[in-house]
Amino acid sequence: MGKMGEAGRRYVIVVDGPSGVGKSTVAKILAEATGYCCLDTGALYRTVAWRALSRDISLYDESGLVGLCNGITMIREEVSGKIRIQADGEEIGAQIRSEDMGMAASLVSRFPGVRRALLHLQRKAGESGGIIAEGRDMGTVVFPDADIKIFLDAEPAERARRRLLELVDRGEKVDYEDVLNDIILRDEQDRNRTAAPLKPAPDAVVLDTTHLTIGEVVDALVNIVRSKVDQMRDSSL
Ligand code: DC
Repeated sequence: MGKMGEAGRRYVIVVDGPSGVGKSTVAKILAEATGYCCLDTGALYRTVAWRALSRDISLYDESGLVGLCNGITMIREEVSGKIRIQADGEEIGAQIRSEDMGMAASLVSRFPGVRRALLHLQRKAGESGGIIAEGRDMGTVVFPDADIKIFLDAEPAERARRRLLELVDRGEKVDYEDVLNDIILRDEQDRNRTAAPLKPAPDAVVLDTTHLTIGEVVDALVNIVRSKVDQMRDSSL
């Protein structure tokens, strides 16, 4: 799709949606296609959960968790398009990627104090634009003025199937029923919490991907981005 906004503004594009819908996969592809950086905000909540578990801090201890947020930093690398996360100088990578850590992240993310402590980090990463930010509350709370807002959804059974394939690919031994139950529980937690619940922003384009392949989702997103960019160009002429 070519590098966007090199001569002018670099946009903020947000992709929200529930667990297992494929946000990270398509956000990465879209970031490569546009030359933008990809911000995976779930990784921040996973980092808080991982640090809590490795330091014997309870996942229910809000002030302890907020303390952990203060040691987290992000490094935006324009060349690779990656945004690296560090906690007290330690590089965060594969250690946060398990299903258990996803569930623990969902628990810590319910606390308003934790969300507040991570808010400025996320906004700072997006302040110069040129970013695809993915998560649960990108369009509603973190980047309410984002240029392009997309909300991906899919039936829980299909999301469980996608997540299972990903986990098996990584060599994890998992059972479809367990993955489906995790997805249902995480949906429940992420949608029904009071602080920044998972929901589409009023101005988001909602795309049901249940019957679409990754390629079809990417094509649909590229079309959405193109038509929004054209609209914004026309209205600024
Ligand atoms: O996208 P993920 O599976 O890595 O996210 C893990 C959990 O983190 C998710 O279940 C809820 C929380 N989260 C959130 O509350 N807000 C975000 N913007 C991203 C993730």
